[in-house]
Amino acid sequence: MESVQQLLERLATGVIRQTIGADGAANVRPCGNPKFGDYQINGLLPIAKARGENPRPLADKVAAALAPALTDLAEPPTVAGAGFINVRLKAGFVGALLPQVLADPRLGVPAASPARTIVIDFSAPNVAKTMHVGHLRSSIIGDSIARTLRFLGHHVIADNHIGDWGTQFGFLLHGFKQEKLDLAASADPIAEMERVYRKYYGASVADPSIRDAAKAELVKLHENDAENLALWKKLRDLSMPAFEQVYRRLDVRFDHTLGESFYHPRLAGVVAELKAKGLAEDSEGAVCVFFQDVPQLKDKPFLIQKSDGAFLYPTTDLATLQYRVEEWKPGEIIYVTDSRQKLHFEQLFTTARRWSYADLKLAHVTFGSVLGEDNKPIKTRSGEPIKLEELLDEAERQAQAIVDANYADLPEATRREIARVVGIGAVKYADLSQNRVNDYVFSWPKMLAMQGNTAPYLQYAYVRIRSIFRKGAETAEGAGRWEMGDRRWECKSVTLADTAEFDLAKFILRFPEAIELATEDYRPNFICSYLYDLAGKFSVFYERCPVLKADEPARSSRLLLCQLTAEVLRKGLDLLGIQTIEQM
Ligand code: ARG
Repeated sequence: MESVQQLLERLATGVIRQTIGADGAANVRPCGNPKFGDYQINGLLPIAKARGENPRPLADKVAAALAPALTDLAEPPTVAGAGFINVRLKAGFVGALLPQVLADPRLGVPAASPARTIVIDFSAPNVAKTMHVGHLRSSIIGDSIARTLRFLGHHVIADNHIGDWGTQFGFLLHGFKQEKLDLAASADPIAEMERVYRKYYGASVADPSIRDAAKAELVKLHENDAENLALWKKLRDLSMPAFEQVYRRLDVRFDHTLGESFYHPRLAGVVAELKAKGLAEDSEGAVCVFFQDVPQLKDKPFLIQKSDGAFLYPTTDLATLQYRVEEWKPGEIIYVTDSRQKLHFEQLFTTARRWSYADLKLAHVTFGSVLGEDNKPIKTRSGEPIKLEELLDEAERQAQAIVDANYADLPEATRREIARVVGIGAVKYADLSQNRVNDYVFSWPKMLAMQGNTAPYLQYAYVRIRSIFRKGAETAEGAGRWEMGDRRWECKSVTLADTAEFDLAKFILRFPEAIELATEDYRPNFICSYLYDLAGKFSVFYERCPVLKADEPARSSRLLLCQLTAEVLRKGLDLLGIQTIEQM
């Protein structure tokens, strides 16, 4: 359905055209200060500027014409400042809209128009290595963006571009051949792979013969040597279950896991094509793309083939891009990696545009580091990166202690499930609620706090609303998840007499704006702030307005407000990849 912002935009743009004959957009935004109104029409300033006129009289004219057009929706608009028009919604309009929002599977968020095909490349760990805390951000930020775009109706393809073809395999192949280990019999094959890699890579620093042997194995692999391919495949296959285990715990899903190796057959063709088109050239035996005309990329060539003939990370990314366009015909590709890969993606995107993908939207979504309490990238005591599995174990353990202390009367299995949902939710929310480009300090007490902008606070807010319904037995008990249909009360229009309920109601209608902000620049933190404010407004409402004890029609009205708040909380958390529980 159309959001309030869209509705006002449409009506006001029409009135602007009729009254002053201008083509400009109304540019409706929420009011910064609720004292002045709920929404603000900003579009008259640029229109006046383009005409060389004073915006104030134009705004007066438009406001006067707007009043009858908005009569069912809003109080007569007022003009403020240099020429803004403020609009204050009427309770009757908001009250009538809320049941429609509740009946809408998107909870009032307009469907994307047009819906596009969007590929999102995220997580992408390297095979034969344990996933560590560095993979957390790409995995959950990428997943949240994918969920949100899907919710809007886009066709989203989540592709895990795992690193399964890199130089690490030279050392691994060489090492495993030397040691003749039976990996399948190992309890922790990845630990074994890391040990072998570290041993032979470490030794190669002092002993160039090992480096050469590793390189020879890699070349043989890349030339499809049967023995090396078989061993490589074994290493790859043995790595996958550990990745899958982490994704299961994080509730992160992919449509494809093609990986770098998949593109190997295309690499020579890509280099040849770029050379034939004059986009890449030979340079001291290697092949590079130069960007002398792009100031920030001047003297930063994109190396696509080494002098020994080997292809590189950039070559694979070019081939991947070509494949994705051919296969899925996306309108956009989003890559989620840490900010250290900025230059790589600038080079990749610039090359792609020159090559033949000028119309394709390409986005690099970057993020900062996870820091320890000492403000340095988080590490274990012995200086190793923290394994993601261990981090998730610790989250569940810490949440378990809190749950056991507070809810000793619940059955053990229930407590364990709550601890899982709260622990994993807390880790995700602490990350997603940050502006992603910043580093953030990882703190267990902060992320697990029941008060403040945390997952447990929001999960608890949801549970609290659910308990109102249980108490009132307004929904079929034991039916498990609370579904739209199992309401036993009717409310065609919500009465909004108290300012706290009116405030909450208007804020529920702003869910679409939060989603828009979150998708515009791929920033899930806007969803977090919205949910936090929503929970705050609900608290104020719940303190001031009795629900089950109120008389009709207030009782049904308020139950609808409760249900809608819970639905938006649940959906919002779901877009962040965070689960809810029904009881706590
Ligand atoms: N495997 C890479 C790494 O660990 C990330 C890959 C990101 N995606 C891409 N298409 N380059 O750094």
